[in-house]
Amino acid sequence: MTIRSEILGCGSYLPERCVTNDELAKTVDTSDEWIRSRSGIGQRHIAAEGEYTSDLALNAAKRALEHAGIDASEIDLVICATTTPDNTFPSTATKVQHRLGMTNGAAFDVQAVCSGFVYGLAVADNFIKCGQAKTALLIGAETFSRILDWNDRSTCVLFGDGAGAVVMRARDEEESGAGGNGKGHNSGRGVLSTHIHSDGSNYDILYVDGGPSTTQTVGHVRMNGREVFRHAVTNLASIVDEALEANGLERSDIDWLVPHQANKRIIDSTARKLGMSEDRVVLTVEKHANTSAASIPLALDTAVKDGRIQRGDLVLLEAMGGGLTWGAGLVRW
Ligand code: UT7
Repeated sequence: MTIRSEILGCGSYLPERCVTNDELAKTVDTSDEWIRSRSGIGQRHIAAEGEYTSDLALNAAKRALEHAGIDASEIDLVICATTTPDNTFPSTATKVQHRLGMTNGAAFDVQAVCSGFVYGLAVADNFIKCGQAKTALLIGAETFSRILDWNDRSTCVLFGDGAGAVVMRARDEEESGAGGNGKGHNSGRGVLSTHIHSDGSNYDILYVDGGPSTTQTVGHVRMNGREVFRHAVTNLASIVDEALEANGLERSDIDWLVPHQANKRIIDSTARKLGMSEDRVVLTVEKHANTSAASIPLALDTAVKDGRIQRGDLVLLEAMGGGLTWGAGLVRW
């Protein structure tokens, strides 16, 4: 018996308040033209006062459970990918676990900044494959607005708040369809493989200048955008090849690219490398901005709910973020 993690459903949540580039330009020395042309961002959602990462996460989780047709009592693993937890501890995942009425299973956070969702996917998939969990709730949730320096125009215009979630369940590969139609391992539904990397030597090109052990303050995002951009283009190109090679697949086999939404120019570069036309790339950066660990599940949920991603489609997820961390996941939806 070979176990595979099938994705049963997804959900997402955005805070109500939406801030356009023009609104931002009233308080920061920037313009809609600069933000759109450099990043593809047109607006971002910002959490209300008193609305926390766990609130966004809980809303996305409830929608994912409903879409999956799963009761919270069936979940035995909750992973929340976040860099902006409600508190230094305990984890946001345990808060969500409690608010879902769960008293069993394990819950913890994964911290890999913008790569958090792909890291979480790797952790959940491996827990499921080794038999330690049967049904996992994986959430990416962030309130990046709380760690932005609103006087630093080079960072504050780029990020937004939001959350997305998926429900994953162990399924016997034969039952999930692999091999049944003559196409072999890659035709069965579920996570085909995950690939994660990090390189701590580039710590200082994207980081937060505070924390419990250093300044005892939360700190603000600091970024050398040009350097991050350069590494993103290179690392994402290589991770995409790694994921395809691991499965004996060709670039042309991919139906949908669901990338981390940091910058449209970075996404265009990956799509070009894959020879994918724009209509096969799920783009939400214009509406959501960069929501860090939440951006992939937000984009995934958008394209599943509007009917673009269909059961059986091959979906490539990829991300790069602070650390540096980067990774990819190939999923047969
Ligand atoms: O989620 C993963 C982490 N993040 C990323 O992947 C982001 C990667 N980097 C990027 O997306 C891009 O580098 C940015 C969008 C951040 C910046 O684009 P860029 O083309 O690399 O611009 P730049 O940083 O080289 O700045 C160009 C100019 C500078 O002025 P000078 O020095 O040329 O006179 C900046 O001061 O643009 C200026 N600038 C702005 N102007 C208007 C920087 N921010 C702004 C702003 N509005 N908001």
